[in-house]
Amino acid sequence: MNSPSKQGLRRHVLDVVVLTASGAPSKQPAMETVFSGIQPSGELHLGNYLGAVRNWVVLQGQYRCFYCIVDYHAITQPYDPVEMTARTRAMAIDILACGVDPDRATLFVQSAIPEHTELAWVLSSVAPHGELERMTQFKDKAERHPENINAGLFMYPVLQTADILLYGATRVPVGEDQRQHLELAREIVRRFNARFGETFAEPQPLFSTTPKILGLDGQAKMSKSLGNTIALSETDAAIWDKLRTAATDPARVKRTDPGTPEKCNIYTLHKFFSSDERQKEVHVGCSTAGIGCIDCKKMLFEGVKADLVRIRARGDELRADPARVDAILARGAAEARKVAVETMARVRARLGLPSAPA
Ligand code: TYM
Repeated sequence: MNSPSKQGLRRHVLDVVVLTASGAPSKQPAMETVFSGIQPSGELHLGNYLGAVRNWVVLQGQYRCFYCIVDYHAITQPYDPVEMTARTRAMAIDILACGVDPDRATLFVQSAIPEHTELAWVLSSVAPHGELERMTQFKDKAERHPENINAGLFMYPVLQTADILLYGATRVPVGEDQRQHLELAREIVRRFNARFGETFAEPQPLFSTTPKILGLDGQAKMSKSLGNTIALSETDAAIWDKLRTAATDPARVKRTDPGTPEKCNIYTLHKFFSSDERQKEVHVGCSTAGIGCIDCKKMLFEGVKADLVRIRARGDELRADPARVDAILARGAAEARKVAVETMARVRARLGLPSAPA
């Protein structure tokens, strides 16, 4: 009852794959490739978990999947180099604990593959400067950190495009915040192909039904930099403390006011963590003022705990065995490198450049 029903879970993860007329997921052509990335922020939170990583787990059964911890992207923002290795390993552990399986998907660290930055430079010569200037993430970050408007931050979406194209990925499971970057990636593909000949396929984003998970404030997207997250690694007590005070439907001021679940971030989270019956109960209870927000949050908390208990157990095992995690990443890097080297050889040939030294 507390864990998501199979049906409920399926509704939130399978809608990212192509469905046949009968509603069953279609068999994907064996060669179709998925690529996605995540920054080693040191914290997998409900936003990037529900918005992306939970779907990565489903997709690994249906596509050739490359999942990448993008440390070269992370260095565009202020950080402590001493912590980078630990943050990267912690993110790898969280991803594996969520169910990414190294036997079915390739998990690796971006900086282990020099071709990412090599291809990014190549793509920078076709990337439209004006479009890069329009990227809202660049503008937001520049506004929030006027002391750190570096060229890497500006080039960020070009490196992201290189990540995807190196592996010939056509599907990119991401949250809504990456939509604009994906549109730019498609534009870069068109420009490259027009200038140098048909080389890359245009990647398409894969969004979940809730591509923007709001933070505890119920206003902005959940994001570590906004301080409105619930991290998967937090204790039950810390999670409850945050849930208890999280924003709900603002129109529901008094316990006796009926609420509108669709306007409540807590109800959105119920869709991931509660069974269909529980969701109905919450919907009716909220909209008739039969239950209060705290009752609703307690029910959500049960579902969250049930989901996290499995993830934490797997995470604890991996934390106790860092060598195993490093071995998984090394194997992933070796698998990824093979593909990346082949792509760069094709790209160099297109550009009229000499082959890379062996
Ligand atoms: P990052 O590390 O910010 O987030 C990782 C993934 O989680 C999604 N996400 C969310 N989805 C819904 N609601 C939220 N509140 C939320 N917060 C994060 C993000 O959309 C993302 O899919 N630039 C990327 C990393 C990247 C990448 C790539 C992604 C680098 N190269 C190539 C796809 C393909 C980023 O910073 O993600």
